[in-house]
Amino acid sequence: MTYPKLRVAVIGNGMIANAAHIPAYRNLSDRVEIVAVADTRLQAAQETAARYGIAKWYDDPQQMLDEVHPDWVSVCTPNNYHKHWSIQALRAGAHVLCEKPIALRLQDAQEIYAEADRAGKLFFPCQSMRFSSDIQAAKKIFDSGRLGEVYFSDIEIIRRRGVPTWGMFHMKKHNFGGPFCDLGVHFLDSALYILGSPKMHSVSGGAFCKIANLGENVETSLADSGAPAGTFTPRPYDYHEFDVEDFSAGSMIFENNMILNFKFSWAVNLPNGGHMDFAGDKGGMRASPLQIWTNLDGYQVDVKPHTYAMSQYQNVPFSGHWYMIEHIERCIRGEEEYLVKREEALNICAIIEAFYLSAEKKRPVLIQELQSME
Ligand SMILES: NC(=O)c1ccc[n+]([C@@H]2O[C@H](COP(=O)([O-])OP(=O)(O)OC[C@H]3O[C@@H](n4cnc5c(N)ncnc54)[C@H](O)[C@@H]3O)[C@@H](O)[C@H]2O)c1
Repeated sequence: MTYPKLRVAVIGNGMIANAAHIPAYRNLSDRVEIVAVADTRLQAAQETAARYGIAKWYDDPQQMLDEVHPDWVSVCTPNNYHKHWSIQALRAGAHVLCEKPIALRLQDAQEIYAEADRAGKLFFPCQSMRFSSDIQAAKKIFDSGRLGEVYFSDIEIIRRRGVPTWGMFHMKKHNFGGPFCDLGVHFLDSALYILGSPKMHSVSGGAFCKIANLGENVETSLADSGAPAGTFTPRPYDYHEFDVEDFSAGSMIFENNMILNFKFSWAVNLPNGGHMDFAGDKGGMRASPLQIWTNLDGYQVDVKPHTYAMSQYQNVPFSGHWYMIEHIERCIRGEEEYLVKREEALNICAIIEAFYLSAEKKRPVLIQELQSME
């Protein structure tokens, strides 16, 4: 079947727009056309348009929405502007793919979805990590029941030094939070997706800033800080502006009694590394790289599954975006249902809100305490 091409626009024209969204759209050039880009920094919009031969560029995203009327908008701004531009793009009649975290409070996320309902458009949270073959395989293994009842999870992603220095990640007024918002949102979303989206009961956590605001040695390479394809129109970095956490840690309890411990870091005096481990009464599993610890004929066995099924874009930077954007195109055409469900996205936003509240109040926070849960 042939369709008219979907007309796409991108708001926020920095690293992730240039390294992930735009290349993934161009991969679908028979079905999708990028018609305009917009950034509050004209230089970023101009350079992006020139790089990819995009016909229109704007330093005012609202003007772009009003003039271009795109079918589909990617929101790739710093976190604090996700809600605003998602709502404006929905109101302008576009389906929206919004970078993570879609919102920093549960109520804000609910407002975005309410606007999507009003506009009759689709809203797609950009939880690109879910689309990796290891996460998809881990989900399949969990769903098979092979692990039994999972009662403990342990998730960490430690960058000893790996502060993103090209944008506004380090500034509360633009980005709200540090590694919990950046790395934690990906790992928590993937873990809870694998586990069937259990509802959180409470979170107890701490957010620290002990190293990154001292200005020394904050990154070892751009790749180690999250920009494997380099940066695009980077903003100058000044460590004096650093006022988010550089390390977060804590524990969550879920309504099914599972405990989940977490550590997320851009800078901490611990070795680099990461894992996402699940302990069940029949077996345990590490997602990425995938491993299973279980019993076979009375013996303990360690299993390393091979995951070839989704290797199409294996060597592409930000390949999760490529799988995700292909999937979204089919969702917009009405052929598939989006993998990231509304309740799952709201659950993640509730977790973000509760975590930062817990860190601020120095006490556990129950999910019922959040304003919009009343
Ligand atoms: N899914 C992933 O794997 C992934 C990876 C990296 C970043 N991200 C997310 O993408 C977003 C952007 O990250 P980035 O690395 O591209 O940062 P960046 O700083 O390189 O790009 C952000 C761009 O937004 C522009 N901008 C700032 N305020 C704006 C506003 N109010 N309206 C329009 N444009 C505005 C900036 O000028 C900049 O060009 C963040 O929310 C981040 O969490 C996601």
